[in-house]
Amino acid sequence: MLDVAGVSHSFGHKKVLSNISFRIEKGSVLGLVGVNGAGKTTIIRLAVGLIKLSEGTIRVNGYSLEDNPREYQSKIGAVLEGKQNLYPRMSVLENLKYFACLRKMKKCNIKDRIEELESDLAIKAFMNKEVYALSNGMQQKAAIACSLIHEPELIFLDEPTLGLDYEAANLIHQYLLKLRKKGKSILITSHDFNFLNNVVDSALFLEDGQIRCIQNFKDIDLENERVNYKVVISGVHHFDHDCIISKQITDNYTELILECDKNTGLSDILRIFSDEKVISLEKKETTIKDIYLNMIGEQKNAK
Ligand SMILES: Nc1ncnc2c1ncn2[C@@H]1O[C@H](COP(=O)(O)OP(=O)(O)OP(=O)(O)O)[C@@H](O)[C@H]1O
Ligand SMILES: [Mg+2]
Repeated sequence: MLDVAGVSHSFGHKKVLSNISFRIEKGSVLGLVGVNGAGKTTIIRLAVGLIKLSEGTIRVNGYSLEDNPREYQSKIGAVLEGKQNLYPRMSVLENLKYFACLRKMKKCNIKDRIEELESDLAIKAFMNKEVYALSNGMQQKAAIACSLIHEPELIFLDEPTLGLDYEAANLIHQYLLKLRKKGKSILITSHDFNFLNNVVDSALFLEDGQIRCIQNFKDIDLENERVNYKVVISGVHHFDHDCIISKQITDNYTELILECDKNTGLSDILRIFSDEKVISLEKKETTIKDIYLNMIGEQKNAK
């Protein structure tokens, strides 16, 4: 669906992206992860044509913006940082109709599509309000509705849950899962790792404009040679063992994270703590947060 190959970009003399290549297949969700200034928004702005591409190629279903802008644009929809697409003095409904016309939708389809978005994004209550008078969360939902009015196959979302309350963020989470089920492809940036963990199939970790790694979370257990376990033991202990990578003592419990070879079983771990009262033992899935913390930890050590 999306094919990014060898993309580099500089603002003036400052290189902010170096040789970025990745793909998003139909029906999959890729999270773009990195610290402030890593280059996430720049990738999206290049992909939607807000910044001119100078090095590398970006193709959507084989089309590039240079060769076939109409075909390319018809396949994509984007919600950028700061809800830049909405007209503040127009109501949400007027905005939606405006974007439907801009996207050359057939008149007979517009009403049904707007009703669908009203229900999916819970925006019915403020459809006739002018955008400037809406709260941040309402504006964000309206911005998403306008960007997706033409049912694009590939969706770019730059921090879609920024500043949203739990309910609104959850609604967007559910909506993204619905879009994925429909076969849409999504590129999403967020600093909310719990949110990302729940919606992405894979994540691209960006560091100083370079790809640090691309992790597929569907196959992570098959790929990893190491596996982590969390074990909670009654009482305060100061164990010393090669496989302990973190230790936290709270009240009368000791919580340990162990990193073991992937062939290590639960019984092997129980054997290590055979003299102790083990309260719980569970396999700890690798999360986006784990990889991110690892990445920025190594970055700090290198400086
Ligand atoms: N229009 C611009 N002119 C000059 N430099 C820019 C411009 N836009 C972005 N940059 C620089 O490019 C780098 C990447 O910025 P970008 O906005 O892509 O980061 P980001 O990963 O989206 O960060 P954040 O998490 O803060 O949104 C930064 O060093 C930024 O200062
Ligand atoms: Mg950004």
